[in-house]
Amino acid sequence: MVIISDASEEDLEQIYEIEVESFDKPYPISLLKAYLYLSNIYIVAKEDSKILGYAIGIIQFKKRGHVVSIATRKESRKKGIGTLLLSTLEKTFINNNCTYSYLEVMITNREAIRFYRNMNYLVIYTKKNYYGRGRHAYIMMKSLINKSLE
Ligand SMILES: CC(C)(COP(=O)(O)OP(=O)(O)OC[C@H]1O[C@@H](n2cnc3c(N)ncnc32)[C@H](O)[C@@H]1OP(=O)(O)O)[C@@H](O)C(=O)NCCC(=O)NCCS
Repeated sequence: MVIISDASEEDLEQIYEIEVESFDKPYPISLLKAYLYLSNIYIVAKEDSKILGYAIGIIQFKKRGHVVSIATRKESRKKGIGTLLLSTLEKTFINNNCTYSYLEVMITNREAIRFYRNMNYLVIYTKKNYYGRGRHAYIMMKSLINKSLE
């Protein structure tokens, strides 16, 4: 059974493995570690002791949730784990009175964009060169107003 729990230092090695297989410019492990102290929510999806995915969120200005990062193991994709992680971030945002959630995604990352669209995120605008020269990002946003807290 997959369970969601708060991330801890012992999880970092596996989180970093997922990071490396998921992004062509992965966050260094030092940054993934720093977020344990800098973020408001840092969660892992675990089955037994294996981490299948992770997500990091920050609450900004007491009113908006920023999805800093989310990734699942390649072999564990399309099983609902990303949805579980993102919904958990959103619930925390809602419980902290956030009115919306937002994120950046590379405009070429079709799989993630489809995933976010299915989760009711909309493209709001494009941030040119956000990930480096010629590597543009979409800013996607989802309203959290009137969402039930089931
Ligand atoms: C984006 C990402 C986090 C999604 O994670 P995931 O675990 O595959 O997410 P889910 O399984 O919840 O949903 C993915 C798709 O599988 C489908 N799915 C979910 N459960 C399923 C099941 N049991 N059987 C078949 N399909 C299923 C979902 O409907 C969804 O469909 P979509 O592709 O049309 O959106 C993952 O692809 C990833 O880690 N990508 C690399 C890192 C990345 O790009 N992160 C985002 C950076 S901005």
